[in-house]
Amino acid sequence: MTLPDPASGQAVRIVEVGPRDGLQNEKTIVPAAAKIELIDRLSATGLQTIEATSFVSPKWVPQLADAAEVFTGIRRKPGVHYPVLVPNEQGYERARAVGADEIAVFTAASEAFNQKNINASIDESIERFRPVLERAKADGVRVRGYVSTVLGCPYQGDVPVTDVVRVAKRLHDLGCYEISLGDTIGVGTPGKARAMLRAVAAEVPMSALAVHFHDTYGQALSNILACLEEGVAVVDSSVSGTGGCPYAKGASGNVASEDVVYMLHGLGIATGIDLDKLVDTGRWLAALLGRSSGSKVTQALAAA
Ligand code: HMG
Ligand code: MG
Repeated sequence: MTLPDPASGQAVRIVEVGPRDGLQNEKTIVPAAAKIELIDRLSATGLQTIEATSFVSPKWVPQLADAAEVFTGIRRKPGVHYPVLVPNEQGYERARAVGADEIAVFTAASEAFNQKNINASIDESIERFRPVLERAKADGVRVRGYVSTVLGCPYQGDVPVTDVVRVAKRLHDLGCYEISLGDTIGVGTPGKARAMLRAVAAEVPMSALAVHFHDTYGQALSNILACLEEGVAVVDSSVSGTGGCPYAKGASGNVASEDVVYMLHGLGIATGIDLDKLVDTGRWLAALLGRSSGSKVTQALAAA
């Protein structure tokens, strides 16, 4: 259990989920033009992966009903990946119609949450993904997979680690190149996060795993550090700490990207991201949403 050695040139990749996870929970509709500006500002910070939007049912997530307009409006920077969430074949077709070349499918380790979130059991969701993955493979589209509720479920409570491992392995076997392990309601603590990741990594290569922490109980950075020590090299986060799932009672913001980058750079781990530009983007977004930034780094800079 050691952190990546800075001298080895090892780096951590941040998957910025703000435009999707960050905005999906906002009650007031953010105009498509502002979403487009957010994504373009983020791509200028050096981020390599920006989850742009969701092709889910607009009845379920009205905030992202403008997914096609947003995706076609962004300036796609060469070398940057812009995955989009897709729950079924209908979402896949909508995403492909606007030229998306990376998607993310999503399910959960808990049946109760899955029913609330996508109106399907875990088995049903996997069966929905099967044709999506087949088409994606034929089309040369990369597919990421999410497992939600890996450290607790708002409806079921505790989630056995064995359930997390089983679902992560199924998504990997199905062809997802990377599995993001989501603490949807931010209840995890470092020991549990580490044990969960270690158990999953026994079945899915660590190089194919990512961690996704919401910060409800203020544990996200500690959890990330524990997982870095365990060997994970991909971390999801959201600029300005926005985020939350409308179908997870009690879910609050994701860990702020600014704070993750500050920690990584402090550890001597490269991210390729310009922290100043990221902080500026977070400030811009917070102003747009009419609130103060959820990033501790940004708050500290403002007070300095
Ligand atoms: P359903 O109602 O069971 O779907 O919803 P259906 O197949 O019966 O279709 C019902 C209607 O939706 C039909 O329209 C379909 O055409 C339409 P109608 O005939 O009534 O007019 N529809 C669609 N429209 C556009 N795009 C589509 C689509 N699919 C169906 N793709 C469904 C099932 C999965 C669609 C729905 O439950 C849904 O969209 N859920 C998404 C919920 C969501 O986005 N949650 C947040 C993302 S997950 C998350 O945040 C967690 C994560 O961050 C990780 C973590 O933190 O743990 C990833
Ligand atoms: Mg999330």
